[in-house]
Amino acid sequence: MESYKEVNRIVYGKHAGQFKEFTKDYLEYILEDANLFLDSLNGKKILDLGSGPGRDSLFFKESCFNPVCLDISKEMIKLCRKKSLAAVVGDLENLCFKDNSFNGVWAYTSLLHSPKEKFNYNLSQVIRSLKSGGVFYLGMKEGNFEGFLESDKYPGIKRFFSLYRDEELSEILSQYFEIFHKSRVKLEKATFLNYLCRPKK
Ligand SMILES: C[S@@+](CC[C@H](N)C(=O)[O-])C[C@H]1O[C@@H](n2cnc3c(N)ncnc32)[C@H](O)[C@@H]1O
Repeated sequence: MESYKEVNRIVYGKHAGQFKEFTKDYLEYILEDANLFLDSLNGKKILDLGSGPGRDSLFFKESCFNPVCLDISKEMIKLCRKKSLAAVVGDLENLCFKDNSFNGVWAYTSLLHSPKEKFNYNLSQVIRSLKSGGVFYLGMKEGNFEGFLESDKYPGIKRFFSLYRDEELSEILSQYFEIFHKSRVKLEKATFLNYLCRPKK
């Protein structure tokens, strides 16, 4: 496994409980987006890509959808299963699902852990996994950076991040998707850039 990925896997595994606690209310900040995402789906199957402890998938399940959590950290997947969520250990850079499997792919602050050179390929896998008319939600952290970062919230812990500006993300996404909703959310000291989109026909 590439070293940046292994570092992130180990860090999230070691601090899974702490991460779950720190981020338990984060859906509130993007609840409007989450509801718009659900309203835009033409079926029930959702892939929660880099689900972490399954906070968002629990909301999807309680809203009568069928989410599947995928995360590289087996500790995160254990936390999802404790919530009785369908969950698999897997790598968002090498998706293990058949083509046309999901009505929606939800990737909230997970694709930011993959290098920029892999972003286009990662998007192609999302498109491949979506059924016709499927919807993709992407949440990323704003910035202009690629490498290991220590955040204020987790002192002493370095994770690999790819941070983008809105113009960059919009330009890349627009090559493959029609963006139909954007939001910019300030959460603690960071700004998150969120996009709801459908693959171009
Ligand atoms: C910032 S957390 C976000 C978790 C969740 N989406 C949330 O909003 O709480 C990023 C998650 O992505 C997972 N992750 C990082 N790299 C991954 C990869 N290559 N494949 C799958 N999951 C990955 C981490 O284990 C972690 O759970």
